[in-house]
Parts: sequence; C-alpha cells; structure tokens
Amino acid sequence: MSANLTALAYLVASVLFIMALRGLSSPETARGGNVYGMIGMAIAVVTTVINPEVVSYGWILTALVIGGAIGAFIARRITMTDMPQLVAAFHSLVGLAAVLVAAGAYYNPTAYGIADAGGALKLASRIEMGIGVVIGAITFSGSIIAFGKLQGIVTGNPITFAGQHALNALFGAAIVVLVVLFTIQPDPQWFWAMTALAFVLGFLLIIPIGGADMPVIVSMLNSYSGWAAAGIGFTLENTALIITGALVGSSGAILSYIMCKAMNRSFISVLLGGFGGDAAASATRSDKPVKAGSADDAAFIMKNASSVIIVPGYGMAVAQAQHAVREMGDKLKKHGVKVTYAIHPVAGRMPGHMNVLLAEANVSYDEVFELEEINSNFANTDVAFVIGANDVTNPAAHEPGSPIAGMPILDVDRARTCLFVKRSLSPGYAGIDNALFYADNTMMLFADAKKMVEDIVKAL
Ligand code: TAP
Repeated sequence: MSANLTALAYLVASVLFIMALRGLSSPETARGGNVYGMIGMAIAVVTTVINPEVVSYGWILTALVIGGAIGAFIARRITMTDMPQLVAAFHSLVGLAAVLVAAGAYYNPTAYGIADAGGALKLASRIEMGIGVVIGAITFSGSIIAFGKLQGIVTGNPITFAGQHALNALFGAAIVVLVVLFTIQPDPQWFWAMTALAFVLGFLLIIPIGGADMPVIVSMLNSYSGWAAAGIGFTLENTALIITGALVGSSGAILSYIMCKAMNRSFISVLLGGFGGDAAASATRSDKPVKAGSADDAAFIMKNASSVIIVPGYGMAVAQAQHAVREMGDKLKKHGVKVTYAIHPVAGRMPGHMNVLLAEANVSYDEVFELEEINSNFANTDVAFVIGANDVTNPAAHEPGSPIAGMPILDVDRARTCLFVKRSLSPGYAGIDNALFYADNTMMLFADAKKMVEDIVKAL
C-alpha cells in the first residue's frame, strides 16, 4: 500500500471515529455511532497490517487470537453494573501498551524509524517518548487501583496520610526533571527512573480518591490513556494512532468535566481526593419510623394518579428490573396515567447507564428526561416512583459539609407521594443516610426491585 493510500485510509478511519463519537452523544444515535466506530477500527487495523514494514504476521495473528478470545469471553460474561471496572482494567492495558511500545522503540530506534543519522534517538522522539511513557505508566498503575476499588479488592474509602499532596507534588517535579534529563541524554537509567516514578505516582494519585468520585476518575484515566496512545502515535509516526488518541484524550477530559459539573465538584478537588470518606463512615441511621407499603398499595396509588415520574437508579440495574418497569409504565398508561422517566447524570455506575437500560427495554426516548429538563415537574406530579435510586435523590446534597454537598438532585420529595423501591434502609454509594425515607409523603416498598415491580404489574 502506498504512503498516500495509507494516509487516505487513516483519514477515512479518523472521520469515522469522529462520526462514532457524534453518534454516541445520544441514545437514539448510539447504535449507529458504534457501527461507524467498528468500521473505522477495521479500516485502521487492516491498513496497519498490510503495511510492507510488518516483520512477522505470526506474532500479530497470535496476539489477535489470544486478545480477541479473552475480549470476547469477558464481553459475554460482564454484567452492565461491572462495566466501570472493566473499563478501568482496559485503560490499564492501554497504559501498559504505551510503556511497552515506548520501551521497544527506545531499544530499537532504527527499526521504528526514529533514529538520526548516527543511530541515536531523534530529539523530537525523546520528548514524545518521555511524555508518552510517563502518561502511560500513570494510567497503568492508576487504573489498576481504580479497578481494585470498584471491584472491592481495595477499600473504596479514601486512603489518606499526612503530607500526601506534598509527596505527590515531589514525585511530579522529579518526573519532570527526569523527562528533561532523558531529552538531553537518553540514557536507560533516566528512561527507567521516569517510568518507575510515574508508576508510583499513578498509584499515589488514585488511592486518596473515594468511591463516589470514581466515575470521574475512570473517565479521567480514559482521557490519560488517549493521550498516552497519542504520544506513542508520535513515536511510531502513525497518524491514525495520534488522531484516535487525541479523540479519546479530549472526549475523556470533556466527559470528566461534564460529570464534575453534574456532581457539582471541582475537577481539582476530585484530583486531590478524599470524597466519601469520613462523613460516609460516620453516617448515622435515623431511628425515625418509616411507612412501608406493599405492591398492592403502590398499584392502587399509581392507578389513581394522573402523573407518575419513574426515577431509576443503580438498584434497577442490579435487579435487571428495566423490562418489568416498562411493562408497569405501559399498564399505567392504559389506565390514563401520564408516565415519564427522570434520569440523573450520575445515576447507576456509569454515564448513560440508565439510558442504556431503558433503551434496552424499549422505553420510548420521548418519555425519558434529563435532570434539568424534568426537575421542576415533580412539584406538579402525583407520584415519584424511585426504583433502586438513593444518592441522586438525597437532600443531604443541600447540606454544606455532606459528602455529596452541592450535587444537584432529583427533587422527588416535591411530588405528592414518593414511592421508594429498595430492599432496606441501607445508604447508597456515597454511604449516607437519606432523610426522604422517613418523610411524611414517602412510602417504602421493601423488596428486590424486579420482584416488587412484577408484583405491582400483577396488581395493576
Ligand atoms: P445508589 O445511591 O448507589 O443507591 C442504589 C440503591 O439501590 C441502594 O441504596 C440499594 O439499597 C438499592 N438496591 C441495590 N440492589 C437492589 C435490588 N436488587 N433491588 C432493589 N434495590 C436495590 O444509586 P444511585 O441513586 O443511582 O446513585 C449513584 C451513585 O453512584 C452516586 O453516588 C454516584 O456518584 C455513584 N457513581 C456513579 C457512577 C456513574 S457515572 N453513574 C459511577 C460510579 C459511582 P438496598 O441495599 O436497601 O436495596
């Protein structure tokens, strides 16, 4: 394949990646976006593989078969609620790949076409390699800790100690000095010292971060993995990798920003860590009485309502109750009830989690509304039906000092009646009690979400 044709194919692939991102910005166009992404990736891979500079097809095929088999196996087994840790695990591999490719290029610059006339690494390649390897190493170890926290292998509570920020700053400064030294004189000791310090920094950066901030961190690590790939794209002089890396890097950064906004957190305070720690640990359960009801009670109340807003959360995903919820919505509509769905931007365990589940259950897109579109409607609504959601409705967000202080919440308590489906009075992800459970207009429906909704459907 000629260089021009290769460049053209990479350009087509890059345009398809941009169209994929555009498609993924809305649930209605997400399937199409995925298809564009797959076609773009197929073009990029085929173009790379038919390059005459390929040394061994045997190695490539072996890696494809092993990696493809592991990927297919994991993709079939993974549940939607475990997706964040899978994404974190994948990011760690992107980071590690960046480090390994950089090491390969460092020890064999001529084969990678990045050597000067004397066979030494070109100056520009040293800078790109230094930055790429550092971001890759931080992504690798940071993502492993994020995976451990989300999987429950490492405690989800922030791990903090005195002088932590100063230590991180010291590591950061030392890494910058090592990258400069490597650029001036690319000796192996600088290469490995900056890589090792970056590994440790990735670990140190993520351990103080609490569970509730993890979504932002996973998306930030996604961004890092993109920049690491772009850095290595420069080293390999591969335009497709540079563009793809930059797309992943920038979209991850934008997503982190959007999530910070949704949780009313500043990006810096997320990075400095500590959210969801002590306050969560010291959360006290109120001893006020709660009103508990049955499926029959819920069916009666909703059948006689003129409007119901369904608020799904993590528990609906765990119980896989989305199909039953759609069925319940259909039944209510037959009774003349207006049914809509309210989605909080961080409901569930990943961005768009609830949208995906409702789309899977064929809930019509025009019944589904984002927080800012629907929040004012609760005041004129008869029933807020909260299913497996907790933190995203918790008025503790209005209290300064609370771990979720400032996070916008769905004002479900403003509805005439608030039905809460969950199994117990346990707190949600942020670990804090929810005063709404004890409110006068709340009725708790204690059960597994799917079981409860199926019973309500029967009662309807
Ligand atoms: P949560 O606050 O985590 O509350 C979910 C509730 O579901 C729990 O209180 C639990 O109560 C209930 N539940 C669990 N399994 C259930 C089942 N089988 N049947 C019925 N109920 C069940 O969820 P949320 O309101 O969706 O808020 C999301 C939280 O996760 C936020 O704090 C957010 O910051 C964090 N987070 C979000 C993301 C993204 S990007 N969406 C990623 C990671 C973390 P019981 O145990 O009493 O049943």
